[in-house]
Amino acid sequence: MLMAAMLLTACSKDSEVMAEPVENAGKTLVVYYSYTNNCHEIVTSLTSQIQADVMRIEPADKTQKYEANGYAIGTALLNAIKANPNDAASYPAIDPVSITDLSQYQNIIIVTPLWWSQMAAIMQTYLFNYGAQMAGKHVALIVSSHSSGISGVVSDAKRLVPDAVWMGDALWINASNHGNRASLIENWLPTLNFAEKQATMEKMFITIGSVTQSATLVNNAATQTLVERLKNGAVTVTLNSSGGFEIWGSLGFSLPTNNEQINAQPGDVILYSGSNICIFYGSNSWSYTRLGKIDGLSESELRTFLKAGESNITVTLSLSSGTTAINSVRSAATENGAYYSLNGQRVYNPSKGIYIKNGKKVIL
Ligand SMILES: Cc1cc2nc3c(=O)[nH]c(=O)nc-3n(C[C@H](O)[C@H](O)[C@H](O)COP(=O)(O)O)c2cc1C
Repeated sequence: MLMAAMLLTACSKDSEVMAEPVENAGKTLVVYYSYTNNCHEIVTSLTSQIQADVMRIEPADKTQKYEANGYAIGTALLNAIKANPNDAASYPAIDPVSITDLSQYQNIIIVTPLWWSQMAAIMQTYLFNYGAQMAGKHVALIVSSHSSGISGVVSDAKRLVPDAVWMGDALWINASNHGNRASLIENWLPTLNFAEKQATMEKMFITIGSVTQSATLVNNAATQTLVERLKNGAVTVTLNSSGGFEIWGSLGFSLPTNNEQINAQPGDVILYSGSNICIFYGSNSWSYTRLGKIDGLSESELRTFLKAGESNITVTLSLSSGTTAINSVRSAATENGAYYSLNGQRVYNPSKGIYIKNGKKVIL
């Protein structure tokens, strides 16, 4: 019913790119552990592509150097688990988690490092404690290793979450392809059998000169407040290039912050210090609140669109693409097999909705 209503809405408003988000439908949790932040970076890429709540698992003892003495501590933790996998005392203590009731989630994506071809001990503790709550849920796995294959981690996941409905194959990201994680995730996501109706993400439109680009917003207090603000009308700001990686400037109002260390990447739309918007054509690591990401532009296309290097750039943020023709940065020729919105905007990770593919309307 809900889906049919969504599609009807999309049909009747050909000028809009996406249907309204579906409240509380198919909620997704991304839960991860990261010692050296590779998994953190993976999660950052992942959550710029899907709408999900995120929870990071932290060890109780933060002084441990797992890699010291030939990885002796990491090895000892894993050996203790292996010796007695059913005994809670075998698992290293973790901090209390922020979400203890998983009943609201239909989809869970676990992101974990590999340690000695097994699941990192800290993530094993979390799953030992909470895996039972994942029974019957759609669960997927992303594993980050330096180079070792991940079958041992998949076995650990299946032991610790025995009653999950596993979504597709686990995604393996290693040192040699970590830099391509965004596209690896983008290709992997459609292979997952997400529980129906993963909420459609809200779009914001960014206009610079005569070009309008869509951006997909993440769901947090900052974007919710921003969307409410934009419902009253477009907001025009003046941004300046800075540091060789961004255009930024004051929004003229404040949004709620949820600052964390973020390695901002080209296309990211970020809130800095509560009242400044930064749009990236390069990368920078800082304490930011994520707002969203511009859809489908390469780094060089972003530089052109954002007028990288210039000052006093007039940028309009809105919830509607308006009458301005969307996008002239990307070549007008449509690629075979690619999905386009009804406005002709290329959609790299189509969720449910109506798209143009090979010149024909298709419904996903
Ligand atoms: C204790 C320990 C053991 C590890 N063992 C392996 C291994 O056997 N094979 C491998 O390819 N990488 C191994 N790694 C490397 C991590 O899997 C890899 O760096 C991963 O990206 C770390 O993710 P993180 O930065 O989110 O912690 C190990 C790392 C640690 C700390």
